[in-house]
Amino acid sequence: MNEKMTIAIVYGSTRQGRFCDTIVNWTLTELWAESGVRVILIDPLQLKGPAENAAVSEAALEVKIGEADAFIVVTPEYNHGYPAALKELIDSCYEPWHAKPVGFISYGGVSGGLRAVEQLRQVFAELHAVTLRDSVSFANAWAQFDEAGNLFKPAEAKAALTVMLRRLKWWARALKAARVENAYGEVAA
Ligand SMILES: Cc1cc2nc3c(=O)[nH]c(=O)nc-3n(C[C@H](O)[C@H](O)[C@H](O)COP(=O)(O)O)c2cc1C
Repeated sequence: MNEKMTIAIVYGSTRQGRFCDTIVNWTLTELWAESGVRVILIDPLQLKGPAENAAVSEAALEVKIGEADAFIVVTPEYNHGYPAALKELIDSCYEPWHAKPVGFISYGGVSGGLRAVEQLRQVFAELHAVTLRDSVSFANAWAQFDEAGNLFKPAEAKAALTVMLRRLKWWARALKAARVENAYGEVAA
């Protein structure tokens, strides 16, 4: 199986002026050099806009989620949980999440968004997705990046991302092979 693996980065915030862009951009820069990987972006902002476009947007998102072999969800923490916009995106489809790995990059105040991540594990279990133990977390995130979006001290986050990425790719390869051999939907049909 030599074709490229598709990793989807999922934005967790739709807030105007969201810090999510800074974290996603850092992630993209880090993934740039990864060989054998194609990166796509999935943004819940796509679900916003005129009502008549909503169905089209939802269908387009479902196609993107279906294309992905693995996900990296970039989530802030809102009132000790994850944003409603992220839940709306996750709930917009069902089967395209099945039997795929999900890694997390979280950010926020002192907790670094970890409470949002723990809640998301419950949600993704219901979608038959596999969440990774290893994650990347930015506590007081806004103090860790300069104006250009570069980390003042990049080593720790880079090391955490490397571990998460290696395990994400391992799961993505394993689950893709398993899905090809035996469609997940037929396992317990
Ligand atoms: C409604 C709201 C609730 C928040 N609640 C928390 C919280 O419970 N814990 C925390 O660490 N940060 C909290 N924050 C701070 C956010 O983590 C921080 O503003 C972050 O930048 C939000 O991500 P965004 O800018 O990408 O939307 C909250 C922010 C908002 C807007």
